Amino acid sequence: MYAIIGGSGLAKLSALQNTRRQVMRTPYGEPSGAMTFGTLAGREVVFLARHGYGHTIAPHEINYRANIWALKDLAVSGVIAIATCGGVRHDLGPGTLVVPDQIIDYTHSRKSTFFEGTESPVTHVDFTQPYSARMRRLLIEAAAACDESVVDGATYACTQGPRLETAAEIERIARDGGDVVGMTGMPEAALAREAGLDYAALGVVVNHAAGRGDSKHEIKLEDLDHVMNATIVRAVRILEEAVRRAG
Ligand code: HPA
Repeated sequence: MYAIIGGSGLAKLSALQNTRRQVMRTPYGEPSGAMTFGTLAGREVVFLARHGYGHTIAPHEINYRANIWALKDLAVSGVIAIATCGGVRHDLGPGTLVVPDQIIDYTHSRKSTFFEGTESPVTHVDFTQPYSARMRRLLIEAAAACDESVVDGATYACTQGPRLETAAEIERIARDGGDVVGMTGMPEAALAREAGLDYAALGVVVNHAAGRGDSKHEIKLEDLDHVMNATIVRAVRILEEAVRRAG
């Protein structure tokens, strides 16, 4: 069974059928909401809305540890995270779907490891390739099979939020090599690695990042919903194909 973590724009996966919900508790507290089990393209999946089902949990307030721990407890065979983002690279404009292959983490003060406290020996995990090659391939092949274009490879820069970035911050991220920018990819991806879960993200670009393209002077938040809704439909098609292929 695969897990899907939905981001902004995907608080509810309406394509899910025969749903049932289960509240889970973890040593790290409660996940963002109840786990929703159901079938997608005839396959059993579990869905979790990262920001809560009412979209009330801000990126820095998400209990990433509880979310990932709960998925580990369910022994899911892979995690697909939907990551709404802004396009830093000029060619990654609104409506682009990307499967990132690298991460730069600009977040701070988030609970970002399972390995802490006096009971836990110091443990380092390898994170050279932060996403699972198998899950990335699954997404890219699924997109090709349903004729949805996705960009294979991008560096996802994760900022603290909840405010959007300044134009200078985006310039710096671009100099650092960031291609898209979002607020929730970390520590989620790192915790998945610590938990031994195969994790990949499907990035949904909903705006040009601050100072780029038509966001030169400001990011018009009222424009985002429209792009988001149109692009999420395509993302869901890829998700359906991905779980179908995974069997
Ligand atoms: N920056 C950070 N996170 C985002 C953006 C952005 O421009 N757009 C959507 N999520």
